[in-house]
Amino acid sequence: MFPTDRPRRLRRTPALRRLVAETSLEPRHLVLPMFVADGIDTPREISSMPGVFQHTVESLKGAAAAAVEAGVGGLMLFGVPKSEDKDSQGTGGSDPDGILNIGLRTLAAELGDSTVIMADTCLDEFTDHGHCGVLSPDGSVDNDATLSRYVEMAVSQAQAGAHLLGPSGMMDGQVAAIRGALDAAGYTDVGQLAYSAKYASAFYGPFREAVGSSLHGDRKTYQQDGANRREAMREVDLDIAEGADMVMVKPAMSYLDILRETADRSPVPVAAYQISGEYSMITAAARNGWIDRDAAILESLVGIRRAGADVVLTYWAAEVAGWL
Ligand code: PBG
Repeated sequence: MFPTDRPRRLRRTPALRRLVAETSLEPRHLVLPMFVADGIDTPREISSMPGVFQHTVESLKGAAAAAVEAGVGGLMLFGVPKSEDKDSQGTGGSDPDGILNIGLRTLAAELGDSTVIMADTCLDEFTDHGHCGVLSPDGSVDNDATLSRYVEMAVSQAQAGAHLLGPSGMMDGQVAAIRGALDAAGYTDVGQLAYSAKYASAFYGPFREAVGSSLHGDRKTYQQDGANRREAMREVDLDIAEGADMVMVKPAMSYLDILRETADRSPVPVAAYQISGEYSMITAAARNGWIDRDAAILESLVGIRRAGADVVLTYWAAEVAGWL
């Protein structure tokens, strides 16, 4: 006549719920992606990502220090060059005086080893065509020619003081090529957070504004098809075999099954990237009064952690670290 099992007993008070919570969210789990832009005098808010800014080198210092103070696990830096400095080879990405390397040097000088400084190792912000690699005469992205560019970029980022490089271009063999170049240049201790399973996603939309992307078209010949699961496991296995120190699944929300499967098989720590579109959707809905912003943010992050992410890249990293 009465239920014999009553799971609700453990939900009765906040203290009981806290005692039995399986998943935790700590500041150290959160990594803040940041943008540093060339040719601006004051920080510029990204209109499709309210609350996220393109920083000047000066404002980057303050925002990075505040995030570290709040306890974030690390910072992932993206560079936004002036559009007239873009070229077909993405030269600005490997130039020691390109905006991303200047930003990395600044962070390294300001913060040293007090946080983990990560660099986006990809050409798309620096190419005039907006692709993540260099193009063949027929207009397709040339995998192997791109690897030589990544290698130069990687060594320049290690020189600039990055602790971890984030190859995000989805070229075959990129992790091995970068590992070999770093080792040959003496940077054996600089690691890679490999964007292993990165899907061609409509949810990157706001990021394209964030970095002033020049891309027309899409990245479907190199980023993964959202229909595929096995392919992601192959990418993860290859990256680990090539020397990835950590692997990443991206985007997070629409790919939580991929994240869980990666976490179950990976011998290295697993990250997930809560991308621009995920940020913008929650922000927009909250601004309309349709959802409770803070609760939605926390629920989204706990979901990503529960799905298996050791580390979550999120534009809310500093704010949420401050709450926790
Ligand atoms: C490529 C890169 C992208 C993002 C991170 N690195 C864009 C893309 O692949 O088109 C997206 C991040 C986001 O949407 O928040 N360098």
